[in-house]
Amino acid sequence: MCAMQIPFGREDREKYFKYLNHVFDSNFWSEGDLVKEFEKKFGDYVGAKALAISNGGAALLAQLEYAGVERKEVVVPTNTFMATPLAVKWAGGIPVFCDCNKEDLCMSAEALEKKITKNTKAVMVVHIGGHIAFDILKIKEICNARKIPLLEDCAHAHGAEYNGRAAGTFGVGGGYSFYATKTMTTGEGGMVVTKDEGFYEFVKKFRNYGKFDYKVKAFNFRLNEFTAALGLVQFERLPEILEWKRELAAKYDQIFPNRVKFPKGMKSGYYKYIAFEKKLNVETGKVYGELCHDFMGAKDSFPNSEWIKTNHVCPPIYHGWEEAGRSAPELKKLLLG
Ligand SMILES: Cc1ncc(COP(=O)(O)O)c(C=O)c1O
Repeated sequence: MCAMQIPFGREDREKYFKYLNHVFDSNFWSEGDLVKEFEKKFGDYVGAKALAISNGGAALLAQLEYAGVERKEVVVPTNTFMATPLAVKWAGGIPVFCDCNKEDLCMSAEALEKKITKNTKAVMVVHIGGHIAFDILKIKEICNARKIPLLEDCAHAHGAEYNGRAAGTFGVGGGYSFYATKTMTTGEGGMVVTKDEGFYEFVKKFRNYGKFDYKVKAFNFRLNEFTAALGLVQFERLPEILEWKRELAAKYDQIFPNRVKFPKGMKSGYYKYIAFEKKLNVETGKVYGELCHDFMGAKDSFPNSEWIKTNHVCPPIYHGWEEAGRSAPELKKLLLG
């Protein structure tokens, strides 16, 4: 296993210090210009409105609270991070686990249809590994037909697109994470994106104790100005980080005939590169080696998720990996021997 590096060099530090001076001069350490600037830039990039929030989990919670899932079922994939079903529980809902496809590791539309009941209040899809769920349009149709809100966990999906649409623009909204291991990071942080005016107004109150009419269930989920400064510096580097990852992915495509293969019109942000192999000489952790339904004691069968759990590997694709400059044959030798 190799340790990742965060793309944040000397020049980035200089830019960050400039932003810090701005924060100190402004005397706004929270709710100032930089959060607004970060939101504007990220929103424009995604093609939606954006609101900064304390972390990715809070970005999921905001969506679930808006959907009003208390004592209701929310369908989530079992192949995800525990943040997804835990957010459902925090919102008072009941997570109902759903199988994924073997091809993309994301929620299967066919499996979803079998999980919807009269008590289903929302569906939360997770764009696992950095690409958009292959079934997203079918899932959207299923949700629309039943008037069930579609929510998106975009924690892995910085830079992902499907026919020019970014993650978080298919349903009511999406939640991005800027946790320390993510494609762009602020250490801790998150962003809600949405085209839904009602949800946008809700999130402004949700993250800020319900100010000023205190009518929504809310708490403190604000992002501060220092974190927004980091976000602005990282955001500037996002195109370059993505290009770097895509170049390495193109070499991996020559090495791994069995891998996640994207449909026409889809681009991954390559939070992870996913190949179907048993073992590599050098690898970063699997996307997930354990399934959420097991942690939560849910009894059901999820054959594709079980298969994925033991049959995928992730060669390093974090920005700055020292060996990335090698040729495809050299990388093959390094990874597979
Ligand atoms: C799929 C998924 N959802 C949600 C989260 C939660 O994000 P955060 O750690 O920023 O709360 C993460 C990662 O951390 C994640 O991988």
